[in-house]
Amino acid sequence: MIYFDNAATTFPKPESVIQAIIRFSREVGANPGRSGHRLSVEASRVLYEAREKVAQLLGANDSSRVTFGLNATEGINLGLKGLLRPGDHVITSSMEHNSVMRPLRALEKEGVEVTVVACSSDGILDPHDVRREIKENTKMVVLNHASNVVGTLLPVSEVGEICRQKEILFLVDAAQTAGAIPIDMERDKIDLLAFTGHKALFGPQGTGGLVIGERVDEKGLTPVKRGGTGSRSEMEEQPDFLPDLCESGTPNTVGLAGLSAGLDFVLREGVEKVRRHEMELTEELIRGLLETPGITIYGPKDPRRQVSTVSFTLRGISPSEASLRLDEEFGILCRVGLHCAPAAHRTIGTFPQGTIRWSLSYLNTREEVYEALKALHRMTRGGT
Ligand code: ALA
Repeated sequence: MIYFDNAATTFPKPESVIQAIIRFSREVGANPGRSGHRLSVEASRVLYEAREKVAQLLGANDSSRVTFGLNATEGINLGLKGLLRPGDHVITSSMEHNSVMRPLRALEKEGVEVTVVACSSDGILDPHDVRREIKENTKMVVLNHASNVVGTLLPVSEVGEICRQKEILFLVDAAQTAGAIPIDMERDKIDLLAFTGHKALFGPQGTGGLVIGERVDEKGLTPVKRGGTGSRSEMEEQPDFLPDLCESGTPNTVGLAGLSAGLDFVLREGVEKVRRHEMELTEELIRGLLETPGITIYGPKDPRRQVSTVSFTLRGISPSEASLRLDEEFGILCRVGLHCAPAAHRTIGTFPQGTIRWSLSYLNTREEVYEALKALHRMTRGGT
C-alpha cells in the first residue's frame, strides 16, 4: 500500500505519537485544570507542554495565546466569527478551502462585505491585488498558506507586511503548512494562525486550534462558544484572558498528548529538513508525471513554490475511476474530486469534475514515488 493522502491527514503517525496516546489513556486520563489532584495536574502539564511546543514551532512569543480546538476549521471559524461584524470588509483569495469560504459566505449574509481576489490558474496570488482591494472598512485579510488542491504557496510575508502597514488583521490558514514549511508569526506579521494537528504535525485527528496575536486584543475577539474553563468558577461570565476565553469544556487532552509527541517529532527532525525532503519527493513526482502520457498537471509544477501536494487529471479516465483503480489494482490511496475547495477548482479550471490529488508527507519515500509513477504508467497504457 502507498498512502498519498497526507493533505487529508498524515498516515502513518510516528510510533512515539501512538505511545503518547496510550500512555495518557493508561497512566494519566484525568481532566486538566478542573481538579487539584495529581492526575489532573499531570493532564494540565500535558496541555501546557503542547502549547509551548506549538508556540515554539510557529514563532508565537506567548504560549497562552495558543488556543486549542478540534481542527483548523474551528480555529478559522473562531477568528472570522469572533472578529468580523456587519459593515466590516474582509479580503480573501480564490484558492481557499470551504473552511474559509463557508464561514465568510455566512457572514456575508449578516452584512460583512467579502472580496475574493482572483489567483492565476496555477493558484498564484499577487500581493498587489490584495493591496488594491483594501478600503476604509477593511478589517481583515484571510488566506491559506498553501492550497490543499495544488499545493501552491501564497505570499504570506508580503501580505503580512501590507496588512501591518494598513493596520489590518491577517489570518492565515496553515492547515497544509504547519510542520511542513517554516512559519514565524512574528516575522511574517501574522495576527491569527489556524493550524491542524493531524497533518504535518503528525498528531491525531481532533486536534488543532488558533494562535492569537497581541494586535487582536484591541479589536475585541468574541468567543464562538462559552462554558466551563476550570478557572474563575465563581463567575457566570466567560473569563476574558487567553486561552480560557476561547477554550470551554473538557479538551481533547488524550489527542493533545499525541499532538505533543508529534510536535516533538517535528521539532527534533527540524522543519527545514522536513521541507527539504518533501521538496525532493515533489520534484521527483512532478518529473515523473510530466513524463506520463495523457496527463495534465495543475499548480506551479515547481517544488519551491508549493508544498508536497500535486493535482492532475488523466486523459480518458475520470478522477473517480482513477481513484478506484489506483486503490484496487495498485494499492495507491489518494483523494480525488473537489477536495472541499470549489473556488480553487474554478480558479485552476477543473470545476466540477475535480482532479486526482497525490499528497506526500515527510514519511513517504522516493521508492514509493517511483512505484506509484510506474503504476500510473501501467494504468494510462491500459495494463495492470
Ligand atoms: N482539507 C483536507 C483535504 O484537503 C481534508 O483533504
